[in-house]
Amino acid sequence: MFIPDQTVATYFYANVLGLTRDPYIEWGPGNMWINAGKQQFHLPTGKPQILRGHVGVSVPKLSELEARLRKTNSPLNKTRFDFTRHKHHISVICPWGNRLKCIEKGTINDMELGIPYVEFEVPAGTTKGIASFYERVMNCKTRRKAGGCSIFVGRDQFLSFKEVKNFNPNYDGHHIAIYVSNFSGPHKFLKSNNLITDETDQNQYRFTKIIDPKTKRFLFEIEHEVRSLYHPMYERTLINRNPDQSFFNYQRGRDAFFPAETNVK
Ligand SMILES: [Fe+2]
Repeated sequence: MFIPDQTVATYFYANVLGLTRDPYIEWGPGNMWINAGKQQFHLPTGKPQILRGHVGVSVPKLSELEARLRKTNSPLNKTRFDFTRHKHHISVICPWGNRLKCIEKGTINDMELGIPYVEFEVPAGTTKGIASFYERVMNCKTRRKAGGCSIFVGRDQFLSFKEVKNFNPNYDGHHIAIYVSNFSGPHKFLKSNNLITDETDQNQYRFTKIIDPKTKRFLFEIEHEVRSLYHPMYERTLINRNPDQSFFNYQRGRDAFFPAETNVK
């Protein structure tokens, strides 16, 4: 999603959250990529975009994150940055109003560092159809509950859709990127329903509208950047650092952080 100020974004995502700027690609000033385990936040410079929902972020130690949050000062003054410590998570507001829920491995799954889920707030009465879309079109496993559904999209990763009364209909164009093992199957359905918005190349297309696959009723808008497993960036090695290294408490050989690989269940 777009951010208006790279200095403030670097301070928030790297210094405070403890994540790592991609050392190889998008070295500004037009864009910055922030690594979080095996996922990334892509932050081009521009008018800020706000996710209608929140992003789950797994961090190795909540206590260390809390210490960094409490230390913050000038760059985040006069922004919307804020945080609240809860028993098992820390709610964080980014400088432009995006909501993050920071958790530790074991709270919801085994991810030690990264983005275990994204939750979207959607209109009442849509999640049955949304689950059906991901099941039938995207071939995902899903779980439905009262007023919501979870879509399992990878090891220790899911999308969550939650029905809310005060749904915000103003979509500002932010997007998620997903890698899919079946690239052409969903494309066939989406194309026949006129839902493909961009044919980037042979390994990527985009769609934005989620519809009920049976009734074709429009349900929710969130751009999906869909990539095949042949995309050159699939499973790209992402560098992660140990955010607790500093000049004052330096430990030789502890600069890098390697998130534990989760067990396949
Ligand atoms: Fe993207």
